[in-house]
Amino acid sequence: MSGFVGVLFVIIVVAYLCRQVFAEKRRKDAVLRVQISRSIADFTLFGVRTLADRLILRATPNLRLHTAFDIINSFTTTDEEVHSRFLGLAKLVIRNKGNGGWVEASRIAESALDLTVSHIKFDWPFLPLAPLVRIFSFIVTLNLLFSANPKTMDLRQARIATEIINRLWLQSKGKPEPILLVDQERLHNALKALLPACYPWDDEGNPLNLIMPAYETMWRVVVLTFVSAAYQGVTLRALNDSREGLCLYPPTKRVYRAYPSMPGNSGICSPAAADVERCHREPSIWGPDALEFKPARFCRSHVLTDDMKQAYMPFGAGKHVCPAAAGFGHRTIILLVVTLAKHFGTIESGLRIRDGDVALPRSPRSLLPSGREDMEGWTLEGTNSIDRGSVCEDGLESISAETVEDVM
Ligand code: HEM
Repeated sequence: MSGFVGVLFVIIVVAYLCRQVFAEKRRKDAVLRVQISRSIADFTLFGVRTLADRLILRATPNLRLHTAFDIINSFTTTDEEVHSRFLGLAKLVIRNKGNGGWVEASRIAESALDLTVSHIKFDWPFLPLAPLVRIFSFIVTLNLLFSANPKTMDLRQARIATEIINRLWLQSKGKPEPILLVDQERLHNALKALLPACYPWDDEGNPLNLIMPAYETMWRVVVLTFVSAAYQGVTLRALNDSREGLCLYPPTKRVYRAYPSMPGNSGICSPAAADVERCHREPSIWGPDALEFKPARFCRSHVLTDDMKQAYMPFGAGKHVCPAAAGFGHRTIILLVVTLAKHFGTIESGLRIRDGDVALPRSPRSLLPSGREDMEGWTLEGTNSIDRGSVCEDGLESISAETVEDVM
């Protein structure tokens, strides 16, 4: 009998040790994948030393953005001066907003959402969530970047612009339809109507140069954070933190670089991709709950491991990290998500979201489908009496500097 117990004990110990060894092996593999992705994003993998080389590595895979939107900015240029001027402009816009403009921005966002809801066509009581958030995020972005007033904006032009941007984006990703000149022209005309003060513009003054890195990275993570935090019944505090939304649903899923196939070869390059989304979802790094929407991960009391810190890069990495990473990006997401929740409430106050005829999963343990087209069928069930008090103000901290102060 004691022999049997002894054998059993040995088996259990060996099984435990094997498990530990395999877990450690998985962790090391995941850490290696993260290191590779980070070194692609921060350019160290390529051993390039000059700004000119880094711009070439980045601009080549982003050529599609230039073709589709005619944009000339840090993402698409190989010209160091153009890059420096654009980066300077982006930093200026961001700094200006940092000078205490967030309370005013919150008021403007509320009025922008009212205008969007009254403009958008829907079969009451179902509101199409993705188009709604697109228009809403777009007009708030125009306000943040160009001080355009939503009250004087032609919402029809905003809708047209967001529809065309979405279509061109999909086409630039290799969808079969060719990019239509007529779409580009209609987008140009819509922007002309929405931002008359910017018109006429030259190539570097094209408002899309700024709009694309700001708005396009924003609206999808806003939809997904709003649904996760307000509908999947997480805490109200979750609405005030963008970090988990950016972790589970990074807007830039992959950062591409054009990798020269031979050293010194300036010819055709094979693209290398930093898989940001995978880094953010590695269970061996983030734990068995890696795919759950769990804002507590980023709470002060919850210590992020070094592996997690290395893996987290929603704003890129290294020398070319996004200038909005220090606060502007987070604050804008929080601003939009909180305004949506104030307007439509949360699951507790009757918010319902459907995907076609089926209710979206209500458990924060279910990863939401996050492809651009996956969200097109989502509808938000409005009520006739939207009670703005249904999202209690004490749960929603004001959009303050402290909210995002300690973001990595
Ligand atoms: C949630 C919002 C945002 C996200 C997730 C985001 C994401 C990113 C990422 C991943 C990169 C690195 C790209 C690369 O390495 O190739 C980047 C760079 C950049 N972003 Fe953002 N971005 C956001 C908002 C903004 C806004 C609002 C602006 C401008 C007002 C902006 C301007 C830039 C610029 C200029 C760069 C290039 C920086 C450089 O080359 O030094 N971004 N962004």
